[in-house]
Amino acid sequence: GFRGVIAVDGPSGSGKSSVCRAVARQLGLRYLDTGAMYRAVTWAALDRGVDLADRRAVATLCRALVLDITTDPASPGIAVDGVDVTGAIRQTRISESVSAIATNLDVRADLIARQQAILAEEKGPGIIAEGRDITTVVAPDADVRLLLTADENARIARRARELHGTDDADALAATHAQVATRDKRDSTVVDFLAAADGVVEIDTSALTFDQVVATVLRVVSETA
Ligand code: C5P
Repeated sequence: GFRGVIAVDGPSGSGKSSVCRAVARQLGLRYLDTGAMYRAVTWAALDRGVDLADRRAVATLCRALVLDITTDPASPGIAVDGVDVTGAIRQTRISESVSAIATNLDVRADLIARQQAILAEEKGPGIIAEGRDITTVVAPDADVRLLLTADENARIARRARELHGTDDADALAATHAQVATRDKRDSTVVDFLAAADGVVEIDTSALTFDQVVATVLRVVSETA
């Protein structure tokens, strides 16, 4: 079977987290959610009352944090200085503040180095890592590089179902601003909307979850 590194990027609502977890389970790979690391730093900054706009203070905090990442795709998790924040980092207050942390270039440098260390460690058993800059910055030499895209309506509908359990008009309206604002802020530092050279783009707009997973598995078996 496949043993190596699969890099996956895509915007929020592209469905990449659930797809990557499913692929990891099927191929027996480890799974790294890099967004969870940016969320964990955001959680810590809010918890310690560090001003998110104070770039130097946030970077200093970030470098000092012990991040324990569980890369088991059956139960991925993250702890900050011994506190399990796996659930807490999904709160809306974190999603709303995470771009301020992710656009801090000193934070990015620190987290990218940690991500590369994890990939080096898990290369033996094989790992799939997902985020916004995995195919371009964290692991440009990955064995398989994929960009999952979806048109904005499909992404907002997916996020609405995740957050509100429905994609009725109210849920769509509530989700629209959140998704659009975050993507706009995030894309000021990383380009995850266009596929870099050699990256395979999969447009998931019209595909079911199972179809996306099957497509990823096919690309992996064809390229690796
Ligand atoms: O993937 P998720 O939506 O959980 O990511 C949360 C945030 O982390 C993104 O909105 C983005 O600001 C940041 N992020 C990033 N680079 C990555 C992964 C996530 O900037 N590789």
